[in-house]
Amino acid sequence: MNEIGRAVELLRAGELVAIPTETVYGLGADAANPVAVARIFAAKGRPADHPLIVHIPAASHLDQWAKNIPQAAHTLAATFWPGPLTLILQRQPTVPDAVTGGQNTVGLRVPGHPLALALLAAFAAAGGSGGIAAPSANRFGRISPTTADHVREELGDQVALILDGGPCEVGIESTIVDLSRGAPVILRPGAITAEQIAAALHGTPAIGQATASTPRVPGALEAHYAPETGLRLVTAAELPATVEALLAQDLRLAVLALNAAPAGLPPLAWIAAGSNARDYAHQLYAALRELDHVGADLILVEAPPQTMEWQAVHDRLGRAASGAGKRQADPFRP
Ligand code: TXA
Ligand code: MG
Repeated sequence: MNEIGRAVELLRAGELVAIPTETVYGLGADAANPVAVARIFAAKGRPADHPLIVHIPAASHLDQWAKNIPQAAHTLAATFWPGPLTLILQRQPTVPDAVTGGQNTVGLRVPGHPLALALLAAFAAAGGSGGIAAPSANRFGRISPTTADHVREELGDQVALILDGGPCEVGIESTIVDLSRGAPVILRPGAITAEQIAAALHGTPAIGQATASTPRVPGALEAHYAPETGLRLVTAAELPATVEALLAQDLRLAVLALNAAPAGLPPLAWIAAGSNARDYAHQLYAALRELDHVGADLILVEAPPQTMEWQAVHDRLGRAASGAGKRQADPFRP
């Protein structure tokens, strides 16, 4: 039996399967099986009231999971699926509470990765629900995995099978748009931008941003996507002097910058992630993971430009900075 066939059997037996998507790797279970879904929460150490995204094979499956679906949802699905966009819709009563955290809404997405799509199609064809509930395949609050090795590192002993689909193309989690309460609201920025969504929905009201009162979006918790090493964001202008000052204190530094290290520095873990927002996002989590492993006292991150195309990256870096350093504190901060 091939890997997809094995994965389908495991899902049908209520086991966990790690799946590649174009954004990050997911920790998947049969979305119609509450016992299997409970295993996801146990494996991740994730609070049970944090809802999961249900991955479906095609937009034609929307009705099975959601009701009162607005035209805007069909438009966005037709425009961006398969792809890095999650829609929050009113749920069908049959969707397990374990998936939705007891809310009356459900998050749905058709992922744009050939292996994920093949698995979803085979799972549906085998008579399963056709829905795979999958959060990012990391322990709660940690950096999302963008390779099969990252999943092994995070949750290797907790999953029955890891499907290896190579490094994730997008590299950061999907854009989440809430359509369950009238006007669309972006709950989490991602590769699909507010402009792209507004353009697809021309004629509808402007896209709102999430407010502090937006319910239960753990991706919106401050301490998320965080390395264990302390992490500090500095502007491009501040970077050279900050590096110099920290090195002068004999601190072991790791740097995530846009450009290569200037000449004359002592040997230093320095990753140049480039000044293209897409390429940067693609390598962001792998870079943070690598820098987290070099034994540095502090990871210094050069803030990218403050333009729209960098919005999702800024969002993740900001959360990484506020959640980082459970192991070591930023020596500059009390
Ligand atoms: O790109 C992605 O979205 C990846 C891949 C695996 O698809 N998944 C992912 O899942 O990032 P997770 O669980 O790490 O983040 C899902 C986010 C959470 O912040 C969750 O609160 C939100 O989606 N979410 C899910 N269902 C929701 C709902 N009904 N209402 C509001 N937020 C919801
Ligand atoms: Mg996550």
